[in-house]
Amino acid sequence: MPAINHFGLDIGTATIKAVQLGGSIDSPTFITAGQFPTPAQAILSEAEADIKAVAETIKTLHKEAKITTDKVVTALPESQIFTRVVEMPQLSKQEIQSAIDYEAEQYVPIPLTEVRLTWQILSSRVGPDKKPKVDVLLVAAPNNLINKYLNILKAAGLTAVSLETETTAVVRSLVQRVEGSPTTLIISIGASSTDLTIVENTQINFTRSIATGGSALARGIANDLGFETEQAVEYMKTYGLDPTQLEGKVMQAIKPIFDVIVNEVRRALAYYSGKHPEKPVKRVVLAGGTAKLPGVVIYLAEALGLEVQMGNPWDGIGLPPNISKKLIDEGTSYSVSVGLALKPL
Ligand SMILES: Nc1ncnc2c1ncn2[C@@H]1O[C@H](COP(=O)(O)OP(=O)(O)OP(=O)(O)O)[C@@H](O)[C@H]1O
Ligand SMILES: [Mg+2]
Repeated sequence: MPAINHFGLDIGTATIKAVQLGGSIDSPTFITAGQFPTPAQAILSEAEADIKAVAETIKTLHKEAKITTDKVVTALPESQIFTRVVEMPQLSKQEIQSAIDYEAEQYVPIPLTEVRLTWQILSSRVGPDKKPKVDVLLVAAPNNLINKYLNILKAAGLTAVSLETETTAVVRSLVQRVEGSPTTLIISIGASSTDLTIVENTQINFTRSIATGGSALARGIANDLGFETEQAVEYMKTYGLDPTQLEGKVMQAIKPIFDVIVNEVRRALAYYSGKHPEKPVKRVVLAGGTAKLPGVVIYLAEALGLEVQMGNPWDGIGLPPNISKKLIDEGTSYSVSVGLALKPL
């Protein structure tokens, strides 16, 4: 039972979230958690001043949340890395190693000398042509992205003990800990992007990042109803996709943008059921701050014809009796950071 002695840090485009757990990976307990707004535009910038501003916010969050360790695990955003499951003939590990670069060159749009490439064999199966196949998960992270994140952590006075991808972290917090989970699609709706991850038998079999999230929904409301951004965000949080509120005006403003996500989800489900006809997706789990959109569970359940539930990363974590209702309500926001806090090292 490895003891936990690091904390998880999720640096989003809108909010920076931190979670510290204690106890062990098998029996974790809550120590503290918190979030702070990300300085505007800062995490997408390469400028020194922006990196410093993000680092300062992390420092403040670390202090205000009373985190007691400087060891940190953070996540690289799915939208800026390249993840793909590739199908290969059944080869030995060595043969796969030598075929990987060739495979990676097919889909990584930047030179392989500028990325860090990792891979993992997911499963072996018999392909549609009756020949044995292996599915290999490839992850290519740009070196300059990795360096930027390491620089931010260093400037915040922290020691990076590991880096991983957001989807790996979400899968760990929302799916892997529940034994016998059916094939699951996680829809993680943040501020600027929405990540789709299909997990079968605890393994990631599919990922996709869509450049739409809460900020675009709020912009839709601002444009349609003539509001300032702040007011639009409030209306989004209060009325969301509920058609019975305000004569459905907010819903109508959000719907065309939200349906971009729904259509991508449909495409992902169709692609996946074509590849894995025997193991179709059985349920949808929601993560990310925008998953709190009122009416979203019903809307998605109807649009997709699947069971949809809110992810709760606090499930299975020993919580103190006095934990704030706010933290519980904001659960979906902490899905990535809880997963990072639970990473075995
Ligand atoms: N109750 C709510 N209803 C709808 N949206 C909400 C609610 N609370 C927060 N949000 C939205 O959630 C978003 C922030 O969520 P989150 O912290 O997951 O984003 P992020 O990680 O910073 O973004 P990204 O992952 O895209 O970089 C914001 O767009 C915010 O307006
Ligand atoms: Mg996020």
